[in-house]
Amino acid sequence: MNNFKTIILAAGKGTRMKSKLPKVLHKVCGKTMVECVIDEAVKCGSEGICVVVGDKAEMVKDCLKDKGVEFALQAEQLGTGHAVMQAVDFIDEDKDILVLYGDTPLLKAETFEKLISFHREKNYGVSIISANVEDSAGYGHIIRDEKGAFVKNVEYKDCTEEEKLVKEINTGIYIFKGSELKRALGLITNNNAQGEYYLPDALEIILKGEFGADAYVAEDVAEFSGVNSRVQLAEAEKIMRERINLFHMTNGVTIINPEATYIGADVEIGMDTIIYPGCVLEGKTVIGEDCKVGPDCRLTDMILADNVAIQYTTAMESSIGNGTKVGPYAYIRPNCKIGENIKVGDFVEVKNSVIGNGTKISHLTYIGDSDVGERINFGCGTITVNYDGKKKFRTVVEDDVFVGCNANLIAPVTLKQGSYVAAGSTVTNDVPEKCLAVARSRQTNIEGWTKK
Ligand code: UD1
Ligand code: CA
Repeated sequence: MNNFKTIILAAGKGTRMKSKLPKVLHKVCGKTMVECVIDEAVKCGSEGICVVVGDKAEMVKDCLKDKGVEFALQAEQLGTGHAVMQAVDFIDEDKDILVLYGDTPLLKAETFEKLISFHREKNYGVSIISANVEDSAGYGHIIRDEKGAFVKNVEYKDCTEEEKLVKEINTGIYIFKGSELKRALGLITNNNAQGEYYLPDALEIILKGEFGADAYVAEDVAEFSGVNSRVQLAEAEKIMRERINLFHMTNGVTIINPEATYIGADVEIGMDTIIYPGCVLEGKTVIGEDCKVGPDCRLTDMILADNVAIQYTTAMESSIGNGTKVGPYAYIRPNCKIGENIKVGDFVEVKNSVIGNGTKISHLTYIGDSDVGERINFGCGTITVNYDGKKKFRTVVEDDVFVGCNANLIAPVTLKQGSYVAAGSTVTNDVPEKCLAVARSRQTNIEGWTKK
């Protein structure tokens, strides 16, 4: 779709969230609600987006500063019509204007497309999305004449007893001809039960003019649900989670138990990868093909190549190469580049380090601030001692080094190519190529000691 711009209403207070955050910054599957809406509008081809902010406006603006959207400030929340009035300079007369709410995270670009097609085919001045619901209390009601033609929207609080019985409601999604929206905004008053400027009043105003107006009746009501409380936030999260899991399964990812799998909105996963239960995959995580992930992994902003197997592990802001096995119970902290065919075993922590291909770090080891080469064997209990209480230092371990069990490598220190470190050593000086470093006191056996 082209030739349309979008206004997103996000000024409301969200009192029922009981939160320090503005409502639209609460997240669904790791993405703020307002970003969910922005991303769908962009996906549909919106040429510009204006977010109307009010409650905690600075926080919302700050969060969206890299999204390429404009802002309009609604200092006082005097109604949805008033909110759109604040964005009047954004409205191009010769373009269509899509109006959305920032607290409806489940909206889909396909739905906007259907609405816009409906609207343009009939050359309407405005079209909205309506839905038939069991309990229509609280919503704007769509009033039609005896032939079924659209007449107007009446807010629930302004409904007559007869109008209250109507089951067709306004979902709050509109597409306007820009010129008609501008004209209607000048005519909306606050002469109603709530003393607010109602955007839906624009429907009747436009219908009485040159162009028609109608409601496009949608089937899936859940998509339009606004989030007003933490309970509704969890409901939205559940629906979004199911959608995301379905998307990955459709693309050839096996998810053993979708109900116990939590995948963020922006995560990518390759074909034939298997996700075991209990995984939380977050942020910009990208997983290759034929990987085995889980059970019980939390991966945040991770990049996994193909054939990676990772279980019972927390890992963040790092990359893992082809064929590498991680866990159980490993902890990969930010800024690690872990190469191919590596083993990072149980109770191993790695931080801010590069690990070369074919290296084994099998158990109970801490590798921090280190540059580790290829085919190295770290014995059980190796520690890179990177911190002297004031500064951090790097440890360099060159290719084909063998580090015996329970060694301390006191940084800054270099173990040169092919060198050995004897078990139990505390290494403070560089070890030359192919040398054995022994840095521990010799054993003495005291004869007859137990008799004394
Ligand atoms: C609105 C519609 C109603 C529709 C319903 C669907 C009006 C008058 N009524 O009702 O017909 O059935 O949505 O959910 O429009 N907002 C602002 N500034 C304001 C007021 C609201 O930015 O001054 C934003 C809110 O943050 C929210 C959205 O607009 O995202 C809707 O506002 P809300 O108060 O929830 O509208 P409803 O009364 O539920
Ligand atoms: Ca609402």
